[in-house]
Amino acid sequence: AEYDLVVRGGEVATGFGTTRCDIGIREGRIAALAERLTDAAAVVEAGGLLVLPGGIDSHCHIEEPARGGYVSARGDAPPPVTVNEESFVSASTSAFAGGTTSVVCFVPQWKGEGILPRLADYEQRAARGMLDYSFHQIITDPTDAVLEREVPEIVARGIRSLKVFLTYEPLHLSDEDYLRVLVTARRNGCLVTVHCENYAAIKWRTEALLRAGLTGPKYHAWSRPTVVEREATHRAIALAELVDQPIQVFHVSCAEAAEEIARAQHRGLKVWGETCPQYLMLTGADMDRSTPEQGAFAGAAFMCSPSPRTPAEQARIWEMIRRGTLDIVSSDHCGFSMGGERGKAANGRDASFDAIPNGIPGLAARLPILFSEGVSKGRLSLDEFVRLTATNPARLMGLAPRKGVIAVGADADLALWDPAKRVRLTNALMQHAIDYTPYEGLEVTGWPVTVLRRGAVVMRDGVVQAEPGTGRFLPRGPYAMVRPRGVLADGFDAAPPPA
Ligand code: URP
Ligand code: ZN
Ligand code: ZN
Ligand code: ZN
Repeated sequence: AEYDLVVRGGEVATGFGTTRCDIGIREGRIAALAERLTDAAAVVEAGGLLVLPGGIDSHCHIEEPARGGYVSARGDAPPPVTVNEESFVSASTSAFAGGTTSVVCFVPQWKGEGILPRLADYEQRAARGMLDYSFHQIITDPTDAVLEREVPEIVARGIRSLKVFLTYEPLHLSDEDYLRVLVTARRNGCLVTVHCENYAAIKWRTEALLRAGLTGPKYHAWSRPTVVEREATHRAIALAELVDQPIQVFHVSCAEAAEEIARAQHRGLKVWGETCPQYLMLTGADMDRSTPEQGAFAGAAFMCSPSPRTPAEQARIWEMIRRGTLDIVSSDHCGFSMGGERGKAANGRDASFDAIPNGIPGLAARLPILFSEGVSKGRLSLDEFVRLTATNPARLMGLAPRKGVIAVGADADLALWDPAKRVRLTNALMQHAIDYTPYEGLEVTGWPVTVLRRGAVVMRDGVVQAEPGTGRFLPRGPYAMVRPRGVLADGFDAAPPPA
């Protein structure tokens, strides 16, 4: 037969408008889009369904080895070494269940170490999954050896983004070190992604809260009000402008920070902004929840950084998405179970908020929530949804046009979506390794019913069927979006790329 598989009669959302057509797949790639394709070895009926590019989640923490307290404000918390509970197998299952087929996840660097040994370990972990994947390289200790020898090496191996934190005790970079990473990224053709919160401000406020006896989960939000995010966002952008290096601001939670990004974009800077469903769905008040079984610890389930804000802020984030200031919605999936020793209670259920790991699971919930709250409720067009969840992340991360669009030549990563199906979210539906979802009980309209990864059906009616070890690394070469603008203060290039 001419095609290994034909997806028949769906409403195909290409990333550039929607059209009813068949999709012919050959050797894992899209070989034809036409009104009617017949010569097929197999057919998947898509009548009455939307056909979307498989989701690209460009911000996911999966099976990430971390030294104790990695994502909490306090850096000294036991156990000394933890691996994020989500494995590449469980994450792949969860991703497919929710319509996502590719992720970009994080290779850690621990202070006092280089990056290559940890990369080798992480490559082995990632290769066990079923998802296609690429890596951001976290830089926490930018020594000369790391920046001058190891970064060029990982770039040669297809990694094109460096991730930096401006907060968290064991991770944050000084302005000086951040500048050094920006320069290195510019010389090597990488994107820099940035966690923007002011380390010293959070530390100062956390100490004051603890002194005042305000230690419960809800005070996590009080420790990091919007101003600390706005300040760090402004600073991250200003220093990137100085170096002439493109950046993406991660997990924007408030309009003040988004306004900094908008201002930069209006001035022509290469600055992009990401947000996540938690900043559209959760508020600081969720961390004040209490249950008979868990008491005030129940609020830890909603604890992430930046903190969820207010309903008014949620509305402003929707507006910033609509305006295009925030053009990617990723999950920042970083799950810690409420029970067990590696999870939220690693330091006990009475731990003060600064000793509770930050992060919430959201890999499977991302697309259903954004579709339901966005498309079904009329806030977003279908085209906008596809761009926010697949096309834009693929372009910004240098994965396009192989990923993120439905076009001839692209990988046949497809989510067949029933736009009318109503589902009440439960933790079981998320199919992740975490023991809860922050969205338990949420009603959504629209649900993925079949998912294809490179032409193979990997999920049907919630049943994931894919062999561990079939996910592929997605090497990234040089790409135009991360090319510097060539606009320099006084025309002086203090960080020239090698000739
Ligand atoms: O609270 C969060 N967001 N945890 C994950 C790590 C990060 O900061 O992205
Ligand atoms: Zn972050
Ligand atoms: Zn300022
Ligand atoms: Zn993150």
